[in-house]
Amino acid sequence: MEPQAPRPSSTDNWGRVEAAAKAALPLDIVEFIAECRQKPHPESHLIAVLHKVQERFGYLSVEKLDAVSQLLQVPAAKVTGVATFYHFFRLKPRGKYMINICMGTACYVKGSEKIANRIKEELGIDFGQTTTDGQFSLNAALCLGTCGLAPVVMVNDEVHPNVTPDQVPVILAKLRQKEAPAD
Ligand code: FES
Repeated sequence: MEPQAPRPSSTDNWGRVEAAAKAALPLDIVEFIAECRQKPHPESHLIAVLHKVQERFGYLSVEKLDAVSQLLQVPAAKVTGVATFYHFFRLKPRGKYMINICMGTACYVKGSEKIANRIKEELGIDFGQTTTDGQFSLNAALCLGTCGLAPVVMVNDEVHPNVTPDQVPVILAKLRQKEAPAD
């Protein structure tokens, strides 16, 4: 019997790359990607895959994007392009508290810009940024769907209705208090 030819090194390399990509993602997401790859246009499932990864980790790191690219067999440039194009994908870790300030029409006419300015001043960050202690991230929303309560600020899942600029330090102080060690 003829001795078997050694596998091409590219195959060996793919094995290593695949193993590293699998290690970067949880098993259920690896399996979801494998299912997507069986379908006619795997790249059409890219957004769904990225949503799953972000739901699990809070943001899309370079390592995770690379793993998605390898396992879904979609070029890295395309994966990064989609992740950066859509505003709902985050490429940096978000703070423990995500503050969404509604800048939609109903909230804007009731002063949401002043609230935004006060929050920016208090936290020392702008929209799309996170405080250096990792506690707060700031985001401008277009409409949070509670226009009757305008102006609205949402902290994670909690809605703060009829917010005034003077309430901002109170809201932030309460959140910071939650973090303070008990006496
Ligand atoms: S415009 Fe602010 S909740 Fe709709």
